[in-house]
Amino acid sequence: MRGLCWVTTAALLSNFVLAVDRSNFKTCDQSSFCRRQRATPEGRNVYVVVMSSLHVEPSSLSMQLLNLDTKERLQMELSGLRGNMVRLKINEVNPLSKRYEPPIGDVLVKEPEKDNLHMMLSSSSSVSVALGDTTVVVNANPFRIDFIMDKEPVMSVNAKGLLNIEHLREKSHFRVNKEEPAGEEEPAGEEGADKEEENGEKEQKEPEKTEEEKATDDQDRDLWEETFKTHTDSKPKGPSSVGLDVSFPGFEHVYGLPEHADSLLLKSTKSTDPYRLYNLDVFEYELNSPMALYGSVPVLIAHSEKRTLGMFWMNVAETWIDIRSVIADKTMFSKLVDFVKGDSDIPQIDTHWFSESGIIDVMFLLGPKPNNVFQQYAKLTGTTALPPLFAIAYHQSRWNYNDEEDVASVVAGYDEHDIPLDVLWLDIEHTDGKRYFTWDAHKFPNSVDMINKVAAKGRKMVTIIDPHIKKDDNYFVHKEATEKGHYVKNKDGSDYEGWCWPGSSGWLDFLNPEVRQFWANKLQPDEYVGSTLDLYTWNDMNEPSVFNGPEITMHKDAVHFGGWEHRDVHNMYGTYLHRSTFEGQLQRSDNQKRPFVLSRAFFAGSQRYGAVWTGDNTGEWTHLKIALPMLMTLNLVGITLSGADVGGFFKNPEPELLTRWYQAAAYQPFFRAHAHLDTRRREPWLLPAEHLRAVREAVRTRYSLLPYWYTLFYNAESTGSPIMKPLWVDFPAEKDTFAIEDEHLVGSALLVHPVTDAGVAGVNVYLPGTDQVWYSVDTYEKFTGGRQHYIAVNLEKIPVFQRGGFIIPRKMRIRRAAILAKNDPYTLVVTLDRKGRARGDLYIDDYQTFDYRQGAYIHKEFILEDSQLTSKSLNPSQSGFVTKSWLERVIVAGVTTKPTSIKLTGNSVQPQQLDFTFDPSKQLLTIRKPGINIAEDFVISFQ
Ligand code: NOJ
Repeated sequence: MRGLCWVTTAALLSNFVLAVDRSNFKTCDQSSFCRRQRATPEGRNVYVVVMSSLHVEPSSLSMQLLNLDTKERLQMELSGLRGNMVRLKINEVNPLSKRYEPPIGDVLVKEPEKDNLHMMLSSSSSVSVALGDTTVVVNANPFRIDFIMDKEPVMSVNAKGLLNIEHLREKSHFRVNKEEPAGEEEPAGEEGADKEEENGEKEQKEPEKTEEEKATDDQDRDLWEETFKTHTDSKPKGPSSVGLDVSFPGFEHVYGLPEHADSLLLKSTKSTDPYRLYNLDVFEYELNSPMALYGSVPVLIAHSEKRTLGMFWMNVAETWIDIRSVIADKTMFSKLVDFVKGDSDIPQIDTHWFSESGIIDVMFLLGPKPNNVFQQYAKLTGTTALPPLFAIAYHQSRWNYNDEEDVASVVAGYDEHDIPLDVLWLDIEHTDGKRYFTWDAHKFPNSVDMINKVAAKGRKMVTIIDPHIKKDDNYFVHKEATEKGHYVKNKDGSDYEGWCWPGSSGWLDFLNPEVRQFWANKLQPDEYVGSTLDLYTWNDMNEPSVFNGPEITMHKDAVHFGGWEHRDVHNMYGTYLHRSTFEGQLQRSDNQKRPFVLSRAFFAGSQRYGAVWTGDNTGEWTHLKIALPMLMTLNLVGITLSGADVGGFFKNPEPELLTRWYQAAAYQPFFRAHAHLDTRRREPWLLPAEHLRAVREAVRTRYSLLPYWYTLFYNAESTGSPIMKPLWVDFPAEKDTFAIEDEHLVGSALLVHPVTDAGVAGVNVYLPGTDQVWYSVDTYEKFTGGRQHYIAVNLEKIPVFQRGGFIIPRKMRIRRAAILAKNDPYTLVVTLDRKGRARGDLYIDDYQTFDYRQGAYIHKEFILEDSQLTSKSLNPSQSGFVTKSWLERVIVAGVTTKPTSIKLTGNSVQPQQLDFTFDPSKQLLTIRKPGINIAEDFVISFQ
């Protein structure tokens, strides 16, 4: 049982080095389809296009591909999609049984709209079509698809000839396994060999096999049954994997493919396993590893100074991706384009994708700029729904807050120490014996009262609700689920059973829409007794984590709704839970209030349902560092509301580490402190005074910037843009930024380089943009872009810079909880660019309902140019929404000469002179009390 491997308190408190138990998880070699696909020889090229099968429609080409070796056929469709995308689908012509494709609405928000492909050329050897500025050439023999932009090949499908679909077949038509499956307790190979020789049996047994025969045997092993440790996967459909290669000529930098505890830039996997995407509960995960983690997004982004492209491999089964950095083979494209003429080598990234089942369904996102790629992907899988304000404020969690008294005292502690707090979290111990939707009657006898008290101060609470259901006939969820047949099944039709926190458990089959509704109903306050609408949800262990299952997850031959095997749908299971909870929260408020649900497992599209976090990290400096690339990667693939446990889940971070962690996380989208049951308490006031001061400052700074964060989330809901961004997203032509992962942007206006090392006196910060100026947010000191600067730090310092040319709205009065500052006045912080200009915006609504979708919001645009700051409404009607907030102060950095006078004009106020101060040494102008309501249009002009 998995519970046994939780480390002891002693280990958590010591300097004990935590390490993943790798033997719990498969290597590529232990996963038979990975081994087979990876062994496909480069240049295998067995497929040709059957040109006579070509069928042309305005927005698509379809054709058959023939395997010259086996004579098997594949059906391929290439379609143009609106917004500059191309979709490629490849399936068997007549599969023995249907292959899994996620229903429309589950991964894709809707059926993508098609766009016309313009036929350019069709001959016996190739077909060329154009979509916008891209030419797509399908070569017949061997089969290959090239994408050409500006006369350069930029992507090539099957250039390595690795297309490989394992056709479904009857077991009787196939060679049976010749070897025993590789179990963990197998005798060591060498020992076995010795014995054979001792007995002199070796030669008598069988003639020695040729290398070729040995290779074939190796590939045939585990086709119809596969054993890992003590688990045997019955594989009723046998081998079913799909694989394909995609090359990116002209590119050296690729990103994406979360979740891995690894660098921002994807690395070559030549001497490691491929990157693995298989949602798993990896206890004590290790860093800089391609091993799978809790979530999977099969999206890769290729970036160069010239362009940005994306690729979305839409397959929800276990997937592995190999990456290689090579030199492009110019001869391959010689007929197509001139780029091959030059002498210089052209870099290329080769990628090889393989999934255990399903079909090949790939969307190519043709950019050409980073923001185009984000928008394209958002069109397919949606954007992060605008969160309620509290979701982006500060959250305090731990496993566990013990009882109602504990909750009250922690909340009071925040007030006492003047640290704002929005949400207090309860982990599994709050339940009656890990029966979710219940409360421990001794520790939480009056939960409604408790929640109401917390809510009275503008705060919320969250309880954990996991997908494993305790098999207890007296537990209402289990009883109903059993009666209604709502559990995932074994292959013999009985209810699947495994171990998790409550002991023996069943798992609800969230693939079934009826089960999702069953679950959603459970969130209604009359069903979830002891809850209120101020109680939100945390979905954990939803990979799903099954302590006694293979690789700590569900058996692949378990059966879901529609008869699909778990193997076919594994990577989506957690998202279906996330979605059901999200829908339940919507329904309990009659679709009035925005849900908030945190999930550990995720897939492409999870952004639509709320937040995710990076799971069980460790309180070590290396884990603080890795959170940056991990969260940037999630942001690149649309999962913007993401965070890492502040302080680290395992171990006890020393005060300096905890302080630096708060400072870094204050600039990360989802900001929650959390810790393991066996760690020491670490609420900020338990820190030494100077650390407490620094933590308080960091959290308060986050609150002062909430107007900016909230505006970013509003804008991202329509654009799909990342919020915590790598520098290259805004400086796509600046190669020096491509590998930077120790600093990031928040929106486009702030650059953050958190301190992630112990005891340092300063950090080297790269400020991008040779034509840019940057200002320290603390001192307004000005720095030039396009180079590195050494920034001295003390314990309180977080190196953060505001980019010249931007205006950030802030609220300088810090309240106990974010919503309490609702009517507070604004300060606009303006940092001028080299030409004395700046721009920014501010979004305001009721912070919790969907009324904004009916127009009930304020959206202002601020522009400073020609010595005039203009505020203009982008939504003049506001549909009745008003605010009491007014403009308290305008700070302008980068002003070279002191104005003689400053005048305010607006519709509802008399033109008036404004008070101001000017600090010539800092080039800082502070305009005091313009006093105008922030919703009004106005002009402030400087003479
Ligand atoms: C695992 C989660 O990752 C962790 O955050 C949580 O505290 C434990 N489960 C207990 O629920």
